[in-house]
Amino acid sequence: MTARDPHRFVNELDAAAVERLIARLESRAKDKVFTHLFDRYAPELVPGPAGRVLEVGCGTGATLRALAGRPDFAGRAVGVDQSAEFIAAARKFAASESFADQVAFDVGDAHDLAFPDASFDIVFAHTLISHVTDPFSVLREMVRLVKPGGKLAIFDGDYASMTYALPDHDLGQRMDAALVKASFNNPRIMRDLPRMMPEFGLRLESAWGEAVVEIGSGSYFKSFAETYAPYIVKAGFFPADVVEPWLAAQIKAIDDGTFFAACTYYTYIARRL
Ligand SMILES: C[S@@+](CC[C@H](N)C(=O)[O-])C[C@H]1O[C@@H](n2cnc3c(N)ncnc32)[C@H](O)[C@@H]1O
Repeated sequence: MTARDPHRFVNELDAAAVERLIARLESRAKDKVFTHLFDRYAPELVPGPAGRVLEVGCGTGATLRALAGRPDFAGRAVGVDQSAEFIAAARKFAASESFADQVAFDVGDAHDLAFPDASFDIVFAHTLISHVTDPFSVLREMVRLVKPGGKLAIFDGDYASMTYALPDHDLGQRMDAALVKASFNNPRIMRDLPRMMPEFGLRLESAWGEAVVEIGSGSYFKSFAETYAPYIVKAGFFPADVVEPWLAAQIKAIDDGTFFAACTYYTYIARRL
């Protein structure tokens, strides 16, 4: 068996699995461990009055709702995602939270989007590029869609750095690798982007990294492990009788205050030349 990144192949999942991913995206978007990462670069995503912003791979629209809810946001935002179920959820959440006038959603594949060239002032991707089939085709599409002089932002994890503590270091290392391989098509892509951006007509204007670390307690990494560990079994990397005790050990460590997990995330803000 081989890994099928659940976020790239969400359209292959059954309804219950899609619902679990929707719940995970929504809970992640409220988790303070994670939201400060978006809050740090959100000011870069605010266009001038009547400016247009596109989020590629918007999922349930949680990031766009956070953007549209900023007091300084006076533009229009569009979110596009490959999953019709995620887009239906995005429309529902936007309507129920009164964002429907500011944010619109469409189904589309990030590798080949239907918008005309230079349609947006700002184009961004928040934890998309690690999942797609061909990250450089997606980067090319993002560059095509932003106006010359406009801004492009990419935020994602360097998932090759993701790690959970386990007393058996060797098994822990192999479980880290299996979890990452089962969950992400491109776990090292953030290491490539600074080198590749100039080749795509982009000038990197600012960039920073932050470690997401949970020690003692765990919320972000608990939800991550519970959501994605079953995909290790599904991919055939480890049997359930290895993965389930690993997950139980993580939950026990959270319960008794001895938990440790970490991953590095990067933000790149670039300008189309
Ligand atoms: C981890 S989720 C992030 C969603 C959203 N940006 C957020 O932060 O809540 C990754 C998203 O990328 C989408 N995605 C993956 N590959 C895609 C593609 N080729 N075209 C469009 N969307 C894609 C998935 O459907 C999923 O919604």
